[in-house]
Amino acid sequence: PASSTVKVLGTDYLTDSYTNITPTILSKLPLQLHRQPAHPLGTLRTLIESHFPSFSHLSSLSPIVTPYQNFDSLSFPADHPGRSVTDSYYINKDVMLRTHTSAHEVETFAKGETKWLLTADVYRRDEIDGSHYPVFHQMEGAKIFEAAPYAMREVEEDNERLSAHLKQSNIVIEDIPHLTPANPSQPSHNPQHSEAVALNLKLHLNSLLLELFGDAAGATKEDPLKVRWIEAYFPFTSPSYEVEVFFRGKWLEILGCGVVLQGTLDRANVPNKLGWAFGLGLERIAMILYSIPDIRLFWSSDKRFLSQFTPGRISTFKPYSKYPPCHKDVSFWLPSRPDGEAKMHDNDFCDLVRDVAGDLVEDVKVIDRFTHPKTKRDSLCYRINYRSMDRSLSNAEVNDIQDQVVSHLKDRFGVEIR
Ligand code: PHE
Repeated sequence: PASSTVKVLGTDYLTDSYTNITPTILSKLPLQLHRQPAHPLGTLRTLIESHFPSFSHLSSLSPIVTPYQNFDSLSFPADHPGRSVTDSYYINKDVMLRTHTSAHEVETFAKGETKWLLTADVYRRDEIDGSHYPVFHQMEGAKIFEAAPYAMREVEEDNERLSAHLKQSNIVIEDIPHLTPANPSQPSHNPQHSEAVALNLKLHLNSLLLELFGDAAGATKEDPLKVRWIEAYFPFTSPSYEVEVFFRGKWLEILGCGVVLQGTLDRANVPNKLGWAFGLGLERIAMILYSIPDIRLFWSSDKRFLSQFTPGRISTFKPYSKYPPCHKDVSFWLPSRPDGEAKMHDNDFCDLVRDVAGDLVEDVKVIDRFTHPKTKRDSLCYRINYRSMDRSLSNAEVNDIQDQVVSHLKDRFGVEIR
């Protein structure tokens, strides 16, 4: 068959059996919400940047990366599930959309940057609901120091400066040991040096969280900000941590971080450095700080949304109206397939619905799934909940969208409606 191509940000790429990028996703690439000054994501970016004034601030790297950048350069194992076409968007086998800002660690360290923040749109195939969207924004932060023993003093001085600031603040930190047998320092690192770097990371982040969620967000001596540190695992850091913030009665996961794996720094040609990195999700934090109830709102071009925000200032979002939801179910048999052949993944269904319904889809749930004992055919039932954020949908309009979903399902996956 003649080879076909897809145009992404002005460049033509050959497609192959990996290609799974959709028109909906393609339409998001040029938008760059994190670079719009009055947009909540733009304001949050500049706010965090001003908390790290001596760091380089990067925010215009292309989302098109290689699997090497996104995975291999960060020591992801060859069989890591994140690599699969059901989890990530591929333009073709050799080119993909970054799934996290860590994809730029090696190239940024290789440029000679030693302390930097990098903000970008990232892409992951996922379910559809009020807090998941296939495009979201992350900020990566990193700082690396000289790895030589005499240079540990530099880290310790930075730690003293940061601790002094945190001591007089309305924050309570549930800490954990920097190093444990399950969360060790790396073989090539001096454990004391690694520990000092881990402490430096924690102090920088506690201080950032205090800035974002502290006094300005209502923390007082009687009701201080509560932050807790948790042991974590990432293929590209050790030790690794996650941080949670207690907000409105719940612990919310805010970011992942750790001491950068030596392999990353070796690949970046800075083998004599040692340092930390973190990655945080901007939508998550913006939804909390601005009281934005649905992640789709970030993509709204409705003036009733956009006009509420001023550059550089966090304000409480006032919902303009909530329109009625309308759900539709679709039940079908998947075509029978030879054993082991890929079936339709839930994420395939969600991408299909998004391509037809755009942001009119609020969430998608599987409500029934079974395999016929004799024929071994799979039966599925999904419930799609439709709701516009800016107007009432008519029943006729929703029926029309649902009909299109059904006809795409038949064409693309050969399903038999029940
Ligand atoms: N990239 C990780 C994620 O997306 C977060 C992370 C960044 C963890 C840097 C450790 C260091 O979940």
